[in-house]
Amino acid sequence: MVERAPWGSLDYLAAVRLRREVLRRPLGLDFSPEELAAEAEAEHFVAKRDGLVIGALFLMPDAQGRSAKLRQVCVDPRFRGEGIGLRLCASAEALARERGWLHLHLAARAEARAFWLRAGYQPCGAGFLDLGIPHLPMAKQLEGPGSVGAADSRILP
Ligand SMILES: CC(C)(COP(=O)(O)OP(=O)(O)OC[C@H]1O[C@@H](n2cnc3c(N)ncnc32)[C@H](O)[C@@H]1OP(=O)(O)O)[C@@H](O)C(=O)NCCC(=O)NCCS
Repeated sequence: MVERAPWGSLDYLAAVRLRREVLRRPLGLDFSPEELAAEAEAEHFVAKRDGLVIGALFLMPDAQGRSAKLRQVCVDPRFRGEGIGLRLCASAEALARERGWLHLHLAARAEARAFWLRAGYQPCGAGFLDLGIPHLPMAKQLEGPGSVGAADSRILP
């Protein structure tokens, strides 16, 4: 089940712990207090099973208010390959449509490129290094409110 997790809530804090373990600790890094404070501007989502947060991502609106960046999608390694990552993306995209953010973009880790292609995102620029690992800019144009894209209809309940 995918739910919203307001910044500072218990589910948000559990999502930070998961993101730290999956995305930062393997690189020998952690979040700075400034990074986490800046996330107050974002829309946070968690995937939960039996009350535990097992997946997370957030959607950071761009300054112009017409688009947003998907960030830090991760799923607990024990629950990968079950469609949880795609469900998280679909929930974020549904909110983006409601808000009128019809252009979503992200910095994809190169190793997750196939996941993002599967979710309907396309490469949109040259690769680059971030945190010392290869990334690729990718983006997706959403249809307007009320429409459900082909990719979404496969995975929404
Ligand atoms: C990437 C990640 C979020 C995917 O989560 P998930 O719940 O396992 O993904 P799903 O089950 O929804 O997979 C959807 C599809 O993408 C594919 N896929 C998922 N992860 C993939 C990967 N790393 N490489 C290639 N394909 C992948 C799946 O095979 C599946 O395809 P299918 O439906 O044709 O079988 C998860 O592997 C993860 O947390 N990885 C580590 C953190 C990370 O790299 N995050 C991305 C940062 S940009």
